[in-house]
Amino acid sequence: MSTYRIITYGCQMNERDSETIAGILTERGYRRAGKDEDPDVIVLNTCCVREGAERKIFGKVLELKALKARHPGAIIAVVGCLPQQPGAAESIARKLVHVDIVLGTHNIERIGEAVERVAASRCQFVEVIDHETAPKEGLPSVRAPGVRAWLTVMYGCDNFCSYCIVPYVRGRERSRLPGEIKAEVERLVSGGFKEVVLLGQNVNAYGRTLGTGEDFTTLLRDVDSVKGLARTRFMTSHPRDFTQEMVVAVRDLPTVCEHIHLPVQSGSNTVLERMNRGYTREQYMDLASRIREAMPDSSLTTDIIVGFPGEDEREFADTMDLVKRLEFDAAFTFMYSPRKGTRAAQMPGEVPFSTKKGRISELIKVQNEITQKKNRELAGRVFEVLVEGPSERDPSVMAGRTRQNKMVHFRSDRPPGSLVNIRITSTGTWTLRGEVQE
Ligand code: 5AD
Ligand code: SF4
Repeated sequence: MSTYRIITYGCQMNERDSETIAGILTERGYRRAGKDEDPDVIVLNTCCVREGAERKIFGKVLELKALKARHPGAIIAVVGCLPQQPGAAESIARKLVHVDIVLGTHNIERIGEAVERVAASRCQFVEVIDHETAPKEGLPSVRAPGVRAWLTVMYGCDNFCSYCIVPYVRGRERSRLPGEIKAEVERLVSGGFKEVVLLGQNVNAYGRTLGTGEDFTTLLRDVDSVKGLARTRFMTSHPRDFTQEMVVAVRDLPTVCEHIHLPVQSGSNTVLERMNRGYTREQYMDLASRIREAMPDSSLTTDIIVGFPGEDEREFADTMDLVKRLEFDAAFTFMYSPRKGTRAAQMPGEVPFSTKKGRISELIKVQNEITQKKNRELAGRVFEVLVEGPSERDPSVMAGRTRQNKMVHFRSDRPPGSLVNIRITSTGTWTLRGEVQE
């Protein structure tokens, strides 16, 4: 039996797409290669959101020459966001002749066909389509095992934040039909999953393209009503489209977890304007306080970019100030990376690398202190934890997450998928420790 391996870069959307690729290859009779085995097909499902991601992927592609040397029959596929950029697919195929298959984001389901053609002819199979397709239903998948399942509710993005390549490589926003989503959640629950994570570049815009009046609030209600589902999560949220009705829905629906990932990107109004984010720092802070007022136990996480073109000391100080005032539970921080074809890539005022580096270190230092402080405040309190299984780092303890998405380690013989109450006994930056509360 032939084997495959998939290496996924980037976001959860890509993780989910990789499950579809695995499903298609499995249907065609392939099995997942073991850890020490050379696979017959290797798929790199790629990301191009920052230059660093691209560099890493090209490094990996070059490394795969050695696989080809050991196993000349091996098929190498580079798919997804990276080749979807204008001109990228042709350039990959031309310069990296050991790559056999190149597919974009809109046609990854062609992987099965592509593999068969290459196996038969040994010619390169390069196919990228430059217009988005309607959401595809009914594709096979092999889901990552566990208690949590990823579920894409919408594709693409219409926001055109000036730094972001996503609208160019994932296309315009399209929502799946609520009936299809609900049916998928039902199948996942009967398959044993306890938690679903609703995925989209801007989930709060869900339904806009359907024109049926359905929106993210009605979708949350639909999903929440599925019997046997323990938890619903969602990402990513956009501050501009997060309505008060959605805040109330998150508060009131029993399965919907009180964790909101709400990228702010910058704390400076002038930078937010240049980023085309569509909100001010005041509007963001108002939304954050309404979320916390409605759900005092909720957690709020964010994404922040430092060194956006023209970002001066005062603008960066505004970001630091917002971070100190809002006290996020956690923040993912990035140095701005110019992406060809985006508006920001044309903007003047490139920030030197050393300045970006200095700013990101300052930000990370302050945020880590805040995260630790917020975690310390949880000591002694009891939280509902969904048991995931033995911890990867220390298999003698079980790992699970609170509704607020905090990782907890504890001793228990309850099986994965159980909900247990845990009293927090000690805390760190990334994990909490606790004991079962009967
Ligand atoms: N440079 C740096 N960070 C970026 N992000 C998106 N595009 C860029 C870019 N060009 C960050 C944003 C986004 C996260 C997924 O990646 O913060 O929320
Ligand atoms: Fe990119 Fe902005 Fe869309 Fe997020 S909302 S994917 S940052 S364009």
